[in-house]
Formats: sequence, C-alpha cells, structure tokens
Amino acid sequence: LDNGLVRTPPMGWMSWAMFWCETDCTHHPFSCISEQLYMDMADRLAEDGFTQAGYNRVHIDDCWMEYTRDNDGKLIADKKRFPSGILALSRYMHEKGVKLGIYEDYGTKTCGGYPGSYGYLEKDADTFAEWEVDYLKLDGCNVNLTEMPIGYPQMSDFLNKTGRPIVYSCSWPAYLIDQPDQVDYTTIGKYCNLWRNFDDIAPNWKSIQGIINYYDHNQDKLIPAAGPGRWHDPDMLVIGQTTVTPEQSRTQMSIWSIWSAPLIMSNDLRLIAPVYKEILLNRLVIAIDQDPLGIMGRLVANTTNVGVYVKPVTPVDTAQDRYSYAVVLFNRHTQNSATVSVKLSEIGLTNPTGYFVQDLWSGQKLGVMKPDDVYSANVPPTGVNMFKATLAQQRQKNAIE
Ligand code: DGJ
Repeated sequence: LDNGLVRTPPMGWMSWAMFWCETDCTHHPFSCISEQLYMDMADRLAEDGFTQAGYNRVHIDDCWMEYTRDNDGKLIADKKRFPSGILALSRYMHEKGVKLGIYEDYGTKTCGGYPGSYGYLEKDADTFAEWEVDYLKLDGCNVNLTEMPIGYPQMSDFLNKTGRPIVYSCSWPAYLIDQPDQVDYTTIGKYCNLWRNFDDIAPNWKSIQGIINYYDHNQDKLIPAAGPGRWHDPDMLVIGQTTVTPEQSRTQMSIWSIWSAPLIMSNDLRLIAPVYKEILLNRLVIAIDQDPLGIMGRLVANTTNVGVYVKPVTPVDTAQDRYSYAVVLFNRHTQNSATVSVKLSEIGLTNPTGYFVQDLWSGQKLGVMKPDDVYSANVPPTGVNMFKATLAQQRQKNAIE
C-alpha cells in the first residue's frame, strides 16, 4: 500500500504468541491482556535498547475489548483490564517513542469472540484514529470469504480517510490457504501494507520449520509481491521463548531477514535471557531485514537437509547492475551438523572483483572472496550460518551506498 508508511518492514512487539487470550487478571496479574502488560513492554523496548535497534512498536492483539459496543456502536476497551482506555495508552507509548498497534477483525466477531468490525468499518477506523493508534491488524475470523475482496479494501479507504497515518495489516490471504487461486497479491498489495498468509506461529521448532517450508514452496508467487510498503508477514518472532533454542532463534531471525519480513517479537521482555536478547539485537542481521531495497530473498539451492538463501542488498553498483548480497546457509537436520560449501558464482555472486565477506553472527570479517572461491561453514542442526557479501570494487560515481 502506497501510503508512505513502513517503507522498511515494521519492527516491534506483539502479545499473541506469548500471552494469547489470558483475561484472568485476578489469577494471572503478570500475564493477562491489560494496559499494564502493554505499558511494561513499551518500558522494556524503550529502556533495554530495543527501540534504538528499531523495535519501536507495541501491538495489542485479540481480547482487549468489552463483549459489547457502547450505545453509539463504538468499541470499548475492557474496563477492568484497560481502566485508562486506549487513548491514554497510545499517549503513554508516544511519549517513549513507541507506536501503538491495535487488533480488530473484519468479521462479525474476532477469533476470540469479541465484537468484530463487520458493519462498523468506518466507525472503527474513526475510533482508532481518535485513539491515536498507529497500526491496525485486521483479522479474518467469522467472515464470509467471498466478501474479503470487498471489506479489506473498504477498511483501507476508511483508514486513509481518517487522515491519520495508520499502517494496515491484513489477514486476508491467511484465510484463503485452501483457495490459493483466490489470492491476488497485486490487489492485496494495493490496499494493505502487510499481510499474513499462513498459519499462526507457535513457539516451537515444528511451527517455525512449517512456515519456512510454506514460504520455500511458494516463493515464486511471493517474491514479486513484496517491496517497500507491502510485505509478507510470516508471523511473529518467538525468539526469547524458552521452548525455542538459541540456534533455532538465529535461524528464525536470519530467514525472516532474508525475506524482508516484519520483525515483531512475541516474548516476555521482562524476563528474557541475555542470549536471546543478543540475537534479537544483532544490528548486522537487522540491517539485512531493513535494507532499503526491500527485496525478498530467495532459496537458490536446496538438498534434503540444506537450504541456501540469497537476498540482494545495498550497496549497489547501478551502472553495472551489480548488487551486494546476504546469504544464509540453513541446516534443516534436527540432529546432525552439516558442513556446507558453496562456490560463490553458483549462487549468483559473480562480481569479477569479488566481495568483502563478513559472518553476520560472529561479526568476523573474512576478507575478499572472488566468484570462483568456495565459502565453507559448519552449520549446527536446525541452525544457520549467515554472511554478507559486499561488492568490492572501485567506488562508482552512481553507486548507491
Ligand atoms: C488469528 C491470528 O492469525 C493470530 O495472529 C491472532 O491474532 C489470533 N487470531 C487472535 O484471535
């Protein structure tokens, strides 16, 4: 969607894959969906180095509302769990340099059974603007699928009409998994800034691997649809949850960055272990995700256990049409390490004067490599090796840095 927003993929934190629909604040005051939870996470983003690294959004997910609208049909936040209301919450965030995202559903009810936007699209868009919200995730439970091509664009227009810049995330294609012919990314990208297109993530390896498989199999359709302002959303980063290992976390972070995916964490930032925090804050990998070209990377070589991904990034030599690249070597095997060797020219790295190569997880600079050179790494099970190959040549006048 060309509304000037999210020209690089959004980064932040979202509650769903960690706190789900916990509404019992009596028994679970620390983990229930409440204004306190979102304020705590905004504090952690602002004070623990996350906003400086780019994670500058907090996203409310399902289960924030009262079960009924007010007499004027306006949505109300749960009065016990959000006693100050959403406007106060967004002002709290904005003071810390954090933007607020909210959740609704295009259908008659949200997936959690709260009032949906069906029949209230314009009213809800106006309410979110009045509440100074910066982002809307519009889910697709309880919808007649044939109405999606009408309702999702309508909401896009209503958000635009509010005059407030509001990022628009659509779950539209995620509900059409069984009808892939119905998914037209040109249209979706015209109306939405990002969109979910596959199953919900769960904090475990099987789920992460399942998402990677889906994106691998569908990459020819996915890659041309992505670009600045219109991103595929493979769902939240579950890095920091203890059911995902550090190796698997590096894999998720690396592959999501190769895809130019949103980096939206779902974890408990109040309790996160340093090893996970370090992974999430790796500036070299974040820079690949946030590269201004916004090109979605590709799986270019594949065996039973190993996948090699390549993403064109800056700096670019436009005169010679040459790119720098981020490369990920991924070992899918769950038990055994793999020694992976790739000749650069075989994965498309053909610049005659070669590339400066840097390992993005160790930070180690490995010197200049030429197209005929072979890059070799030992990759742990369910893990990755990731490097950047930066064009090595005389600076050209028209090179983009
Ligand atoms: C389905 C979505 O895909 C999830 O991300 C989450 O928003 C839940 N619905 C909430 O009910």
